[in-house]
Amino acid sequence: MTNACGLDFGTSNSALGVIRQGRAELAELEDGAALLPSAIFFDFELGRPVFGKAAIAGYMAGAEGRLMRALKSILSSSLIKESTQLNRRRITLEQVVVLFVGEMKRRAEEALGRPLDAVVHGRPVHFVDGDAARDRFAEDTLASIARQAGFGEISFQYEPLAAARAYEATVTAETLALICDLGGGTSDFSVVRLSPRRRAAAARKDDILASFGIRLGGTDLDRLLSLEAAMPLLGLGSLLHNKSLPLPRGLYSELADWPSINQLYTPATRRLARELHEDAQEPAKLARLRRVLEQQLGHRLALAVEQAKIDLSDSDATGIDMAFIEPGLTAPATRDGFEDAVAGERSRLAEAVRETLRRAGTPPDAIGSVFLTGGSSRVPVLRKAIASVVDPARFARGDDLLSVALGLTEEARLRYA
Ligand SMILES: Nc1ncnc2c1ncn2[C@@H]1O[C@H](COP(=O)(O)OP(=O)(O)OP(=O)(O)O)[C@@H](O)[C@H]1O
Ligand SMILES: [Mg+2]
Repeated sequence: MTNACGLDFGTSNSALGVIRQGRAELAELEDGAALLPSAIFFDFELGRPVFGKAAIAGYMAGAEGRLMRALKSILSSSLIKESTQLNRRRITLEQVVVLFVGEMKRRAEEALGRPLDAVVHGRPVHFVDGDAARDRFAEDTLASIARQAGFGEISFQYEPLAAARAYEATVTAETLALICDLGGGTSDFSVVRLSPRRRAAAARKDDILASFGIRLGGTDLDRLLSLEAAMPLLGLGSLLHNKSLPLPRGLYSELADWPSINQLYTPATRRLARELHEDAQEPAKLARLRRVLEQQLGHRLALAVEQAKIDLSDSDATGIDMAFIEPGLTAPATRDGFEDAVAGERSRLAEAVRETLRRAGTPPDAIGSVFLTGGSSRVPVLRKAIASVVDPARFARGDDLLSVALGLTEEARLRYA
């Protein structure tokens, strides 16, 4: 008998579902929770990696080591094959993901009491926009990672189609649905005919009218909010004495972007920051930048920005807590300022929804329900972007973070059981 599972390896969060007594069910991966933050912390003192919430907690507690997050977003680039220094050894980022997926598998097997051999692996519709070769590369890399983690049989499913499966369990009448999965790294859409009657069928090609996606997710919102509200306190937008040139934006962009933070912890970058500090018209700000680089506080800053972004989903104003850089330092952030900073993403998202409907040959009025999933579906400006195309009265449901994993597991049951 094949023991199959569904695996949602997300940019920000991951989950894995197993089949127990013929039913799809999510495995508890950390402290009784099904959701495992896609984070890994190589704790140099412990001498081993820790995962999920514990990884973030270990890093925040100040243990010496290296935190990695958002690794899914580099699957489509050759960076995934590059190695990074961990204390005295080097490891490729691909191997880091193998450790992560292997750990998920191990924990689920322990909970289930049986080894898992087959997996239906989720994937975004497009890992990158408009580049089929890099897309292929990303899927091949994921398949190879799953194999190295110990899976013998591996197949893929689009994440929004998996979410559609999970939602189908809740519909009572046939409906043409637009599924929107707004995650940490990508936004994925499908137009699907959902029907309580056809639910049990494995092959549903005729019911899938279109799938489309773009590379836009919560980590992009974090980056833009950071550049808008936090980085100016570290010198972005201020000037050098030399010809009154502005500070180089590239350095700040890298510091604001989850996957590139670790690459800044080099002697060359520290030297550059020292030189900029010496020539800065506002040296106090550059002193903060140097502290962040020297004390490796980049992820703490990114986490504080992410928290402020989450706060802005429910309130008009908040502060980015930067007291770990300088006592009492807070960057004010407002909903309006955030929405201005992400205006370009809002348009891209609305255009992606229109493109999905065009590919499906479906006018917006024909959509009976809109199912939203993924953490970024809680961001009001992104909901507004979707509502500018499809009547928000048809929005069916909010912010389930586990529907993709559940749908992948249901798919695994149909494919392998
Ligand atoms: N209340 C909230 N308001 C705004 N953003 C939120 C909120 N809650 C979570 N998020 C964001 O949602 C994102 C994570 O969502 P999710 O877990 O669906 O992503 P993922 O599945 O890991 O990513 P992907 O599917 O793109 O690979 C993060 O960027 C997180 O900051
Ligand atoms: Mg996801």
